[in-house]
Amino acid sequence: MSKNNAGIVTVDWKPDKSETLPLPNQIVKYIIDKISKGDWLVGDRLPCQRELAKILGVNRSTLVIAIAELVAMGIIESNFGKGTKIVNTTWSLFMSSAPPNWKSYINSGIHNPNVPTIQVINRLEYKKGIIRLSTGELSPNLIPHDMMEEALISVAKRANSLNYLEPLGLINLRQALSNYLSRYGIHVPPSCILIVSGSLQALHLISIGMLKPNSTIFTERISYLRSLRIFQSVKMNLQDVPMDKSGIIPAKIDTRHLSSGDSLLYTIPTFHNPTGIVMPERRRIELLEWCKINQVPIIEDDAYRDLWFDHVPPLPLKSYDQHGVVLYLGTISKSLAPGFRLGWLVGPEAVIEHLGDIKMQIDYGANSLSQWALTEWLESGMYDKHLEILRPKLIERRDITLQILERHFKNIATWSTPKGGFYIWLKLNTKINTAKLFNLAAESNILINPGSIYDVVENNCIRISYSYAEIDELIVGLQRLADLIKNITYKDYREICS
Ligand SMILES: Cc1ncc(COP(=O)(O)O)c(C=O)c1O
Repeated sequence: MSKNNAGIVTVDWKPDKSETLPLPNQIVKYIIDKISKGDWLVGDRLPCQRELAKILGVNRSTLVIAIAELVAMGIIESNFGKGTKIVNTTWSLFMSSAPPNWKSYINSGIHNPNVPTIQVINRLEYKKGIIRLSTGELSPNLIPHDMMEEALISVAKRANSLNYLEPLGLINLRQALSNYLSRYGIHVPPSCILIVSGSLQALHLISIGMLKPNSTIFTERISYLRSLRIFQSVKMNLQDVPMDKSGIIPAKIDTRHLSSGDSLLYTIPTFHNPTGIVMPERRRIELLEWCKINQVPIIEDDAYRDLWFDHVPPLPLKSYDQHGVVLYLGTISKSLAPGFRLGWLVGPEAVIEHLGDIKMQIDYGANSLSQWALTEWLESGMYDKHLEILRPKLIERRDITLQILERHFKNIATWSTPKGGFYIWLKLNTKINTAKLFNLAAESNILINPGSIYDVVENNCIRISYSYAEIDELIVGLQRLADLIKNITYKDYREICS
């Protein structure tokens, strides 16, 4: 990524002190090069001079000479207190080779950029030394390397071709998934299963392949879906549905937004992201009944199903579905390996064929190697073995995290004990702008997902995950986070709330 969400360009280069070209000239050349290639655009800003000098590994005086030169050339504008901005790419220097107006192209694209906080999270996750307190994936230490090796060795023997695969995905994998799903009461043939490149892609396919602009997507008021821009990018409206401790409340769905043939309901009934709520069986049946009567198809996102702790959760909505109301999404990202980029969409044959046809036009199918590898994991029984080993480890992490919270957050937040999945939904007692807390935490090398990215309003919550950071990181990170919250003085507090 060449820019952060504040339009400040990323600089990952240093002048070469052994070169004969003086350092200021090297810096001028580097900046002109970035602009002339279209990497940096008019309106983008450079990091502040102190920071830029640090990144470049030069004295401030060296940088000042380079900046003055660029200002004199009309390439950048330097305003005291407002930073340094790129002002012109069409000056005489570039007359013959001015780049296209990339900014205008970028702004014309159909797909919206990510939520700015998510852009920052995506970047900071790879910063050295950062403690990731909210990451929604397994720690590399929880992925069984010996079994993975075994699976990949078998794949080398079995995957006799790496050609494109059939439109719905590898038949062996779809058959293995058909067997796997039947344990959850979902009895479907392979022709009702589409293999996708992660369940996110299934959402994307549904958004572009099945709905008109202005369609309504009903969803839990607080939802993972809010942190994405998939449906909004194709001009659809997310309509919030109130929740209680059993999840989405069907009786509270605002029927004024219903119009036949173009509404859908998206829900995560099992170990909901981010709240961890599990919808009880009774509510599942109520919701299904409401959707059947009102002819609203359901997208059931079951990403966390296999990660239960003490009790198996209620069966999926799909297992009660006698009328083809539910499109069911599964993924291997949470329980085994997000890097496989594999998920599955289960639904009526006509829908699966249509979306499979669109997928073929988009990417000609999910990665064949991954599909063979997952087939191996499922068929060999290694996946089940892995889950049996994983569950106690996740329970241990959850329990330790709860103890740390008890120690440091007792007087500043409330939470519930998750029965599965990865997340603890921390509700702060004091009104704090969590977006600003996010920035303060990032400065202290702590990465959190503020609750506001999952909600329509500021909600005073933080999603904590016990699946990714190691125990010693959780101890240090959560204590640091609690101190940050406590140390927000009355003055800061007033400023943060303003
Ligand atoms: C509820 C839910 N659905 C889908 C996804 C994305 O999964 P995938 O990696 O299969 O695209 C996530 C990831 O955070 C999730 O929490």
